[in-house]
Amino acid sequence: MNITRQKGCKDILPDEVKIWQYIEKNIKEICDSYNIKEIRTPVFEATELYARGVGDETDIVNKEMYTFLDKGNRSITLRPELTAGVVRAYIENGLSSKIISPIKLWYTGNMYRYEKMQKGRYREFNQFGVEIFGSDSYLADIETIKISSELLRRLNLLDKVILSINSIGCENCRNEYIQKLKEFEKPYLDQMCDTCKVRYNKNPLRMLDCKEVKCAKILRDAPVITDCLCEDCKNDFEKLKDGLNKLDIKYIIDPGIVRGLDYYNKTVYEYVSKDLELAVGGGGRYDKLVSTIGGAKTPAVGFGIGMDRLVLLIKEYELDKNINEVVDIYFLTDEDTYFESLKYVDELRKLGYVVETNINNKSFNAQFKYANKVNAKFVVIIGEEELNNNECSIKNMDTGIQEKIKLNIDSIKEKIENAWI
Ligand code: HAM
Repeated sequence: MNITRQKGCKDILPDEVKIWQYIEKNIKEICDSYNIKEIRTPVFEATELYARGVGDETDIVNKEMYTFLDKGNRSITLRPELTAGVVRAYIENGLSSKIISPIKLWYTGNMYRYEKMQKGRYREFNQFGVEIFGSDSYLADIETIKISSELLRRLNLLDKVILSINSIGCENCRNEYIQKLKEFEKPYLDQMCDTCKVRYNKNPLRMLDCKEVKCAKILRDAPVITDCLCEDCKNDFEKLKDGLNKLDIKYIIDPGIVRGLDYYNKTVYEYVSKDLELAVGGGGRYDKLVSTIGGAKTPAVGFGIGMDRLVLLIKEYELDKNINEVVDIYFLTDEDTYFESLKYVDELRKLGYVVETNINNKSFNAQFKYANKVNAKFVVIIGEEELNNNECSIKNMDTGIQEKIKLNIDSIKEKIENAWI
């Protein structure tokens, strides 16, 4: 029997890896420019971390976790998300006393959710995320929106998504709102789906997220959380919206955004694809999570963006054409001149050029065909005669012009750079 990969997992082949690398390069550049430090945490953690952190009534913890007992009888879970793990690492490593506050961390990594599969929904997927600890200001919320928008802008995806924002208030105003919501829902409960009936007692806010038409219809007239915010939360939300307007970041206000994880308070937001029914990223403030997991009271805010979904959108809109890998130079040689050519090849590679050589040991014609196929911009030809005269030919594959030049790095570089100007 053939062994195949597990349901919901992907092999990422070289053609797609280049898209991933392009995204990763942009993530690193953006985070470096904001002085955000990278953190890497384990792929599995104690199950308790997610039960306490993400919330035992959430779908993630209830239905989607890969949980098992290890050989020491410990309950272990493959991380379904990374915020809780980063918070655990922040507390356990005493980062608050080691790094100047606010502490800004970024990560990418695989995570695991046992979900029903559909386009863009996998059981093993990857997220890029940023978490900021130690600022209770709405300015930190804006910073996270700025960073996530900047990544989408660089990938040419910003106009392909809608940013929806909401405030779910603090503990006080949210609890008051939940009472109002439950009063509204009570008479309709019989007409609602089974999930909503369960959520009514366990997690009533999540009912707002129900995709069943009959429930959505009823909930359309439900009280709106942003009308029930306390003075503090209302002020912060107004300032947040003002700030986004000043930065010309486009958003809509969607009181239905409650997020699928229990740790949020105040600001929450999601980026949703305009054309595919998929959330590309989401985040918000979570001022209670650090203390829930055992640390000191620490305000925090962050987001996670699904990298698989970024790749999917890039392919869907055929934006990967712009990120094709390039071969700058192909060195065309015969077996005798091959080794002599390598000293120039390696020198050019050190200078940052992408250079390929004749490792097939094929004819000049076959090598030209190969150089064409890999879209080499230049071909440097070194035959016996050229080598004896300390010369080489260089062909600009765009213009077709071929010239003889001195065989040294400076003359090769000069030809290439002049052609690029
Ligand atoms: P989340 O909304 O559960 O948030 O996930 C963030 C993003 O991960 C989603 O918007 C989506 O793009 C991607 N994603 C989630 N599940 C899957 C899946 N099964 N397959 C493919 N992509 C998926 C969080 O995880 C929070 N930790 C985000 C956060 C960080 N909040 C504050 N800090």
